[in-house]
Amino acid sequence: MNIEEAIRTRRTIGRVKKDPVERALIEKLLDAAAWAPSHFNTQPWSFIVMTGDGRERLAEGYARVSAAAVPELSGEQLEERLAKERTKAYRSPVVIAAVCSPSDDPRAVLAEELAAAQAAVQNLLLAAHANGLGAIWRSGDPMYHPLMKETFGLVEKDQIVGFIYLGYPDMVAPEPKRIPATAKTVWLV
Ligand SMILES: Cc1cc2nc3c(=O)[nH]c(=O)nc-3n(C[C@H](O)[C@H](O)[C@H](O)COP(=O)(O)O)c2cc1C
Repeated sequence: MNIEEAIRTRRTIGRVKKDPVERALIEKLLDAAAWAPSHFNTQPWSFIVMTGDGRERLAEGYARVSAAAVPELSGEQLEERLAKERTKAYRSPVVIAAVCSPSDDPRAVLAEELAAAQAAVQNLLLAAHANGLGAIWRSGDPMYHPLMKETFGLVEKDQIVGFIYLGYPDMVAPEPKRIPATAKTVWLV
């Protein structure tokens, strides 16, 4: 698949099969991610790959964030809620937490460090698609919660920029509408 085709046909795939994904293939995607550009070549991204029981770390994060959000709940009600939250981590056989650790280089700009980490995620998504995998870039409030960061042993300045849920596709995604680039472009000639 050439690059234009990969960009054009990649879709967010929220439902994937339970089949495991070979480690070598996951490493190939991470390698693609690591070739993203970054100002001053700071390469501020890192990845936490969760498979099998390793996804329990994310389940723990979701549960901790959820428990903090509903301090009034206890007993069976709380247990039920937390059990439901935990299942989110098991929606795909592979989940990759993409992290931005902004550089200490005084020239580095936070917005650019985040942009670089996000560009790495896009590389990963495109590589996943080109290799027959389906993926969804998930974020949401729990991802930004300090307890989620703590669960992954991250320091304060680190930011999780995405949870990438990956696997072999179990759906055909409808093509979402796109505003043509021409409507988003001004030419100064
Ligand atoms: C930063 C970011 C965060 C996203 N978070 C979510 C999310 O939490 N849940 C979700 O269903 N999709 C999420 N998406 C995927 C978008 O919904 C999706 O890209 C958009 O609907 C366009 O569809 P497409 O990716 O198939 O072109 C996210 C995308 C980005 C770039």
